[in-house]
Amino acid sequence: MSMSVRGCRLLGRSTLTNNIAVRASSWWSHVEMGPPDAILGVTEAYKKDTNSKKINLGVGAYRDDNGKPFILPSVLKAEHNIISKGLDHEYAPISGSAEFCKGSISLALGDNSEQVSSGLSCTVQAISGTGALRIGFAFLSAFHTIDRGVYLPTPSWGNHTPIIKHSGLVPKAYRYYDPKTCGFDMKGALEDINQMPTGSIILLHACAHNPTGVDPTAEQWAELSQVIKKRRLFPFFDMAYQGFASGDVAKDAQAVRMFLKDGHHIGLAQSFAKNMGLYGERAGAFSLVTGSPEEAKRTLSQIKIIIRPMYSNPPIHGARIVSEILGDASLKAQWLTDVKGMADRIISMRVALQNNLKKEGSQRDWSHITDQIGMFCFTGLNKDQVEKLTKDFSIYLTKDGRISVAGVTSKNVEYLAHAMHQVSK
Ligand code: LMR
Repeated sequence: MSMSVRGCRLLGRSTLTNNIAVRASSWWSHVEMGPPDAILGVTEAYKKDTNSKKINLGVGAYRDDNGKPFILPSVLKAEHNIISKGLDHEYAPISGSAEFCKGSISLALGDNSEQVSSGLSCTVQAISGTGALRIGFAFLSAFHTIDRGVYLPTPSWGNHTPIIKHSGLVPKAYRYYDPKTCGFDMKGALEDINQMPTGSIILLHACAHNPTGVDPTAEQWAELSQVIKKRRLFPFFDMAYQGFASGDVAKDAQAVRMFLKDGHHIGLAQSFAKNMGLYGERAGAFSLVTGSPEEAKRTLSQIKIIIRPMYSNPPIHGARIVSEILGDASLKAQWLTDVKGMADRIISMRVALQNNLKKEGSQRDWSHITDQIGMFCFTGLNKDQVEKLTKDFSIYLTKDGRISVAGVTSKNVEYLAHAMHQVSK
């Protein structure tokens, strides 16, 4: 290659680079660095830590007693079955797999649900629980014209507020957690619900409240249902942890089923991330329980119109696993055992943590560790204590003091109790 041609090429490249630099700085120079995500950012920080004793109690993702991600035996078997069928990779319909939708709503409402058999509900497959909420709130934003407020329990999952805002609705709050008792503030919740404007949307965690692990009792749910009905509010259930509260998927759906018995029409977001360990497969569902089969069809048609420009249609693999499990009696039985096993391990770690705190000599009342249920424990540790846990002990959790008990194991529980005692004594 002659010098002149090579020189020309080099000149060309540097001119191009300069142009890119000029354009890049002028186009995006106003974009500020965003903060890390309050939950997923904790995992990013944990990964960078080189301390061999480090523990990640940030994100709600189940771990086995060796601290490893858990592939449910039922899921493994379902995957083998799917592979042996040699299925193709064609697009799913906009609303996702019909088999998956039917299985999801039946799991929530019960196999003998009148709403399902009479065609009163419509369900679409969603990109896990987050996607289900996003579709649901987009639908409410477009068609729920009475009041744009969405009332969230205080506190609620950190992603609820951004999802609601992103959908063009207005996040509001009602009292839920009482820091004095580390339990449910029924009185405060009722007072606030009684003040909500008619037609508002109220978000309810169906079970295993995130982040507090505090659920209303069955009697409290019954009362909440009556008040919400009297106030003519729209109940939107987020059910991301079905099976994780009690180990029994039917029991964990009791609030949803009770509301339907009481005549509510509801919105429902479901996720199979936790109860099937399908985190990255993004398998979830959004449903509406409506007033008539014809209304179910109309609402479904509009939900599909919302989905199409968002992501066209959902991924197929996770939904196939769910369908395979829910559609096969013996696989489903195995799955129910798997779920119970995960829930039981978490309960045993709550007891172990409490016992080890006692052994450490902690004088604090840690009874809420075993009173609370589901994947999370709201420890009551404040921001400074959380910071100290991370800085001095490489224990990672969200700033609000929430720990994912699913990350506690028989190997790390002593160290965790020791650290918690050191920062809180
Ligand atoms: C959590 O709260 O840790 C989970 O729901 C995971 C997530 O996406 O935030």
